[in-house]
Amino acid sequence: MRVLVTGGAGYIGSVVAARLIADGHEVVVVDDLSTGHADAVPPGAVFHEMSVAALDPVLGDWDIEAVVHFAAKSLVGESTTLPSAYWRNNVVGTIALLDSMRAHGVGRIVFSSSAATYGQQGDEPIREDAPARPSSPYGATKLAIDLALTDYARAYGLAATSLRYFNVAGAFETSDAGFYGERHDTETHLIPNALAAVAGSGGSLKLFGTDYPTPDGTCVRDYIHVIDLADAHVRALSAGEPGEHHVVNLGSGSGSSVREVLDAVERVTGTPVPVEEGPRRAGDPPVLVASNQKAADLLGWHPVLDLTTMVDDAWRFRNDRAGEPAEDGSDDLS
Ligand code: UFG
Repeated sequence: MRVLVTGGAGYIGSVVAARLIADGHEVVVVDDLSTGHADAVPPGAVFHEMSVAALDPVLGDWDIEAVVHFAAKSLVGESTTLPSAYWRNNVVGTIALLDSMRAHGVGRIVFSSSAATYGQQGDEPIREDAPARPSSPYGATKLAIDLALTDYARAYGLAATSLRYFNVAGAFETSDAGFYGERHDTETHLIPNALAAVAGSGGSLKLFGTDYPTPDGTCVRDYIHVIDLADAHVRALSAGEPGEHHVVNLGSGSGSSVREVLDAVERVTGTPVPVEEGPRRAGDPPVLVASNQKAADLLGWHPVLDLTTMVDDAWRFRNDRAGEPAEDGSDDLS
């Protein structure tokens, strides 16, 4: 299949692009490099540095059969202070992409949605039919796109799947085409921040909240390895019929607290994480755990890689990168 991967210079986009190439697909990556890295685009992909909103004049020339759409602004906290950038980039950009796909007869899309569409729920694990209550503009933009996909599928015969990720971690090492992992310029995620703290380049890990109504007082999240996530994308590319839009959670189905993640980091690295306990971070729900039954039923998908493997792969990726010069000339990987 000839697949367009938007955002293929980012963390998850580059892993999925690399996996698609490893499976023998032809991959075209578009990415505006606003947060991605050109050297993260897998060597086997054709790369165009451009925004999805600018695709229309060229999409018809590329003979694309399906789109995997990652390109988005994705920082929950930033979205609360810059909602215009999130609505314009994520929603307006995606509508432009969908209209270009219609104009050029591209009939299949797999969309990178998020557990942030659910917000705080009373019942765990969260099923896809739970009421959407996004607690940030970021989550609201992902929900808006999910709603648009339902309408586009019904009216225009699009085959669409929205994959709602829970907490993605880990890295993907290919045998011959590189190592792909998480390297955000502004890092907000727990595992890379904890690894940076262990490596001595990020100060202490700020632990946001120890007074949650959870067994150890810290937030519980559902962590999923990026390799398992990529496998779900491959499956979604051949699932569903024209006119159908499926919304599918991608999570392990069980939760780990922040302290349990820090224990896994200590086990993998052999070093206790220096921690500074602090107040809660705005907008963090106490518990977010996915029901992954629908992913099993619809995609035949079952995650296999555990939290220790996620941390171990992220640690190896970090150490692998440490040998390379940083793009800004510094050697700080925090
Ligand atoms: N945390 C810390 N210190 C840090 C970073 C995180 O204590 O330095 C805590 C957070 O407060 C939270 C947990 O670790 O309790 C996980 O936080 P992450 O930032 O790693 O992940 P989130 O659960 O906040 O966010 C993830 C995705 C988002 C998505 C969201 C859905 O990264 O894209 O799940 O709720 F929107």
